[in-house]
Amino acid sequence: MTGEAGAFPNVALIKYWGKRDATLNVPTTDSLSITLDRLATVTKVRFMRSLSRDVVTINGRPEPPHSVGRVTAFLDLVRVMASTSLRARVESVSEVPVGVGFASSAAGFAALALAATRAVGLPLDPAGLSRLARQGSGSACRSLLEGFVKWRAGTRSDGLDSTAETLYAAAHWPLALLMVSVERDSKAISSRTAMERTVRTSPLYRGFLETAAGDLAVVETAIGERRWDLLGPTVERHALLMHATALGADPPVRYWRPGTVRVMDAVQALREEGFTAYFTLDAGPNPIVLCPVDQAEAVASRLVALAAVRDVQVCGPGRGAW
Ligand code: PMV
Repeated sequence: MTGEAGAFPNVALIKYWGKRDATLNVPTTDSLSITLDRLATVTKVRFMRSLSRDVVTINGRPEPPHSVGRVTAFLDLVRVMASTSLRARVESVSEVPVGVGFASSAAGFAALALAATRAVGLPLDPAGLSRLARQGSGSACRSLLEGFVKWRAGTRSDGLDSTAETLYAAAHWPLALLMVSVERDSKAISSRTAMERTVRTSPLYRGFLETAAGDLAVVETAIGERRWDLLGPTVERHALLMHATALGADPPVRYWRPGTVRVMDAVQALREEGFTAYFTLDAGPNPIVLCPVDQAEAVASRLVALAAVRDVQVCGPGRGAW
């Protein structure tokens, strides 16, 4: 019983930030992302009689117990659906350069969901796969799909209507996404913990809830009409607002490092020089800079020249999981 699958990470332009059901991983608000065309994770799953527990390796190295525990909890969902109690060997190979800090759980759980269901011979329809991947890591449901992807929060208490869909294929708007690495260390606080604490304690979270739908509508229009003047300022402000809610949590969650702010300043300076460059930030210190493809090389070389920047990976919109 073997299955293999691959997936790319995705970058949220409108963030998933808060759950209305923590067990089902159902979000409070809709989110919108771009699936990348690089930095793949390819995962092989083998369910075997000889195993007494799940074994997980990433790039050949055994994962620590807490990480295996998360994979086991996820595979338990697949085992229930497939009526099997067999344990699995999970071998994941990630193109994300080791230590760069973009080891996205989205690509990991999207590939795992597809590989594990293939291994047990459980052909799920796209909505079923979306619901399954979401329970591993919320944003994984977006990495299953190509291009510009919207994950609807849905309203049902069983989460059945909380699924992702492609709004526009990758070719609709071939913009550049620059993954700017300023920190080697993995983040101190997981997105799971940070969003839970923010929702529970931050007086600023209300502002995120009040603006998320409006920001998403603007970004959807901006993508539809390929308009940087609408997209850039909204995406940047929305990301800063998300981080402001985390800063307002008790105790505060601060992901920014000195290099994060240096890159923000550099992006602003590039704009003042006439470049069309804007940043976003997920739950970590490493900014992602969006710009037109014909400016990508110049923007990347300016960013890589900063002392605080370790590495810049230029990506574009890409395909869904395969
Ligand atoms: O899918 P998770 O649990 O890793 O949460 C992702 C949270 C953000 O990256 C901050 C936002 C998003 O929509 O991806």
